[in-house]
Amino acid sequence: MTVLLKGGTVVNADQTFRADVLCQNGVISAIGPDLEAPAGAELIDAGGQLLMPGGIDPHTHMEMPFMGTVTSEDFYTGTAAALAGGTTSIIDFVIPDPKQPLMEAYNLWRERAQKAAADYAFHVAITWWDDSVHRDMETLVKEHGVASFKHFMAYKNAIMADDELLVQSFTRALELGALPTVHAENGELVFRLQRELLKKGITGPEAHPLSRPPEVEGEAANRAITIAKVIGVPIYVVHVSSRDAAEAIERARSAGQRVFGEVLPGHLLIDDSVYRDKDFVRAAGHVMSPPFRSKEHQAALWHGLQSGQLHTTATDHCCFCAPQKALGRDDFTKIPNGCGGVEDRLAVLWHHGVNSGRFTPNEFVRITSANAAQIFNLYPRKGVIAVGSDADIVVWDPTATRTLSAKTHHQNVDFNIFEGMTVTGGATHTVSQGKVMWADGDLRAERGAGRYLPRPAFPSYFPAQ
Ligand code: URP
Ligand code: ZN
Ligand code: ZN
Ligand code: ZN
Repeated sequence: MTVLLKGGTVVNADQTFRADVLCQNGVISAIGPDLEAPAGAELIDAGGQLLMPGGIDPHTHMEMPFMGTVTSEDFYTGTAAALAGGTTSIIDFVIPDPKQPLMEAYNLWRERAQKAAADYAFHVAITWWDDSVHRDMETLVKEHGVASFKHFMAYKNAIMADDELLVQSFTRALELGALPTVHAENGELVFRLQRELLKKGITGPEAHPLSRPPEVEGEAANRAITIAKVIGVPIYVVHVSSRDAAEAIERARSAGQRVFGEVLPGHLLIDDSVYRDKDFVRAAGHVMSPPFRSKEHQAALWHGLQSGQLHTTATDHCCFCAPQKALGRDDFTKIPNGCGGVEDRLAVLWHHGVNSGRFTPNEFVRITSANAAQIFNLYPRKGVIAVGSDADIVVWDPTATRTLSAKTHHQNVDFNIFEGMTVTGGATHTVSQGKVMWADGDLRAERGAGRYLPRPAFPSYFPAQ
């Protein structure tokens, strides 16, 4: 399988240059001016377009059982939609039930992911503790290439991690050279605020952000970061949504601590007025945690990405259709938490990030692929256009304009948080493992073509043991 991309401009995180790119047997085999097309090569005219590393979405939840239902997007539909938007790798989450053996959950998720159309890796959530968890973390790191663990500081009475669990797991992660990550919200406070709101008769989606104010996120981020500091392990905070959490990260980094932060496009662009929409379907469609917030918080997130204090962008792609969201019609605490976006992330960030002048195209690559590849130890296999790297490339037309909508997206969900947003800049072609999977509106995703990506422990920034 040979593909030659002709006449494009390569944009990596560190430089931009005119070159043809040759993809053979799944990897990039040559980069240079006027490359000859080998016999039988598929030619793509990339004249006037940019060639960027395929997007890496380090936070998705395909076919995840959650809050009494299962996300509507499976590993095939979700990765196919990703490819349509220029994203060629995802990092999803294995989430064991409390008391469920880690290896059992891991094997179950690996089985589910067999149908993926694009490459994928896994973080594994630590939701409980005993000697078997301690042991299985080592097996996952050393035998299965799991190089990061997730901790949910919210979702009390379900998968919430208390301080004891954070301390145990962070300590073990340090020994193993694996990166701990956290969903930072104080689950005790959320639980208390939810009960108070329900008691006052405030039961609709408008209560969702009231039950999860920014302080709740700032406190948890600060606590997790402080625990990581004492233990001496790097830490990654997922879906940073508030100035409070961004400042906790910035403070720690300014004091020399290794802390990484992730931002979702929704948190950059959508404000909390959506929860007061009179239409339940629209309001509930935006229910995710942490919630969307005011402009002040959005500005802090943009500034964090611009300054380099925040590092990656993800989607937390976690789709539920209207009948699923309706589980919480009479009680907002029962609305399944989560929103989609795996297909739209690149275009939304290009439009609002690059076209607005906030980011250069190189910086765009940094926050959409290169940083995620480096932090999660997939680099330089992923996250860069270089000879020997996987041939995961998005051909980007900076002038293409379209309007995002659930009516036209490829995501398997009946709602789009960016509904009606017109964006300029989009993927005309997506090459994954050296094959053209998206070409001018034609989605050629192959069920099962995606590969599991094992990741080595001890990324370069990790303290040696
Ligand atoms: O509301 C969200 N974010 N749902 C997915 C699970 C999580 O917290 O990431
Ligand atoms: Zn979360
Ligand atoms: Zn500003
Ligand atoms: Zn998530």
